[in-house]
Amino acid sequence: MSTKRVLSGIQPTSDSFHLGNYLGAVKQWVELQDGHDAFYCIVDLHALTVETDPALMRKRTLVSAAQLLALGISPEKSTLFVQSHVPEHNQLAWVMECITGFGEASRMTQFKDRSAKGGTDSTKVGVFTYPMLMAADILLYQADLVPVGEDQRQHIELTRDLAERFNSRYGATFNIPSGFILKQGAKIYDLQNPTAKMSKSSDSVSGLIEILDSPEINAKKIKSAVTDAGREIKFDEKEKPGVSNLLTIHSALSGQKISDLENHFSGKGYGDLKGEVADVVVEYLKPIREKTLELLSDEAHLLAMLSKGAAKAHEVSSTTLAKTYSNLGLVR
Ligand code: TRP
Repeated sequence: MSTKRVLSGIQPTSDSFHLGNYLGAVKQWVELQDGHDAFYCIVDLHALTVETDPALMRKRTLVSAAQLLALGISPEKSTLFVQSHVPEHNQLAWVMECITGFGEASRMTQFKDRSAKGGTDSTKVGVFTYPMLMAADILLYQADLVPVGEDQRQHIELTRDLAERFNSRYGATFNIPSGFILKQGAKIYDLQNPTAKMSKSSDSVSGLIEILDSPEINAKKIKSAVTDAGREIKFDEKEKPGVSNLLTIHSALSGQKISDLENHFSGKGYGDLKGEVADVVVEYLKPIREKTLELLSDEAHLLAMLSKGAAKAHEVSSTTLAKTYSNLGLVR
């Protein structure tokens, strides 16, 4: 049996990943490196669909790369690269656009939501063609598995449809990828609003544990987390979402079972729980933050690693693009 190829992408749209990004996605990317041929892409071109400040864009791309490495993405095991370093992404995206129906693209929920909110005049064409660029990201590498969150399911479906359509019109060209919808195992909620997902789009940063925040800030955020009525420490997402979220965070980082934690905290108070969760989080994130800052302090070295990744990616993507062009009858 041959090794399955994995591909995923993350947008460089924040100054720091938060715990939800890590536990919801990146941790599983790290696990998939073993036993798979993994390609991980920082999708900077996708991030251009929202107006960006050039200095921030550059900084966030490097911060994303450094964090992925610090969180355990290994440049030996995986191919880690920046999307815009590999020109075939745009080249194949055009081909994908030429086999996608206008109506089909108009039905994509991300486009529908953003154009409903902003109106068609201010919604960019890039938001409309976003899914075709994403399909290109995936199909260029002949990926078998695409680990993504539930919100990306429709994009994966479109990618499969486009690959099948192309293959049946022009001959076998693309592997048909499967979505690998990330397990909901460790769903992390906002500390201030523990029924909403921990997300950078929440109203305030006080509910977010950011990987690059100082240990003091993160400890403070946990100690000010919203808890629930009553005083018992038990996992009950409905009646005790705040306490349950803290237990989930503890368990995900310490590796202890929730039931063991409930026993451990029996008879103790919310203050004890928060204090211990703060310690666990700070302890866990400290080396990751330090490693990230160290990687960022040597930009030339970081860029060299990304450039190696891009060269490895290009070997695969150029082969797929050549096959695609040739199957389309473009004169080579
Ligand atoms: N659309 C994805 C997101 O917003 C990011 C992405 C771009 C991606 N290209 C990809 C994910 C390819 C997986 C595979 O999360």
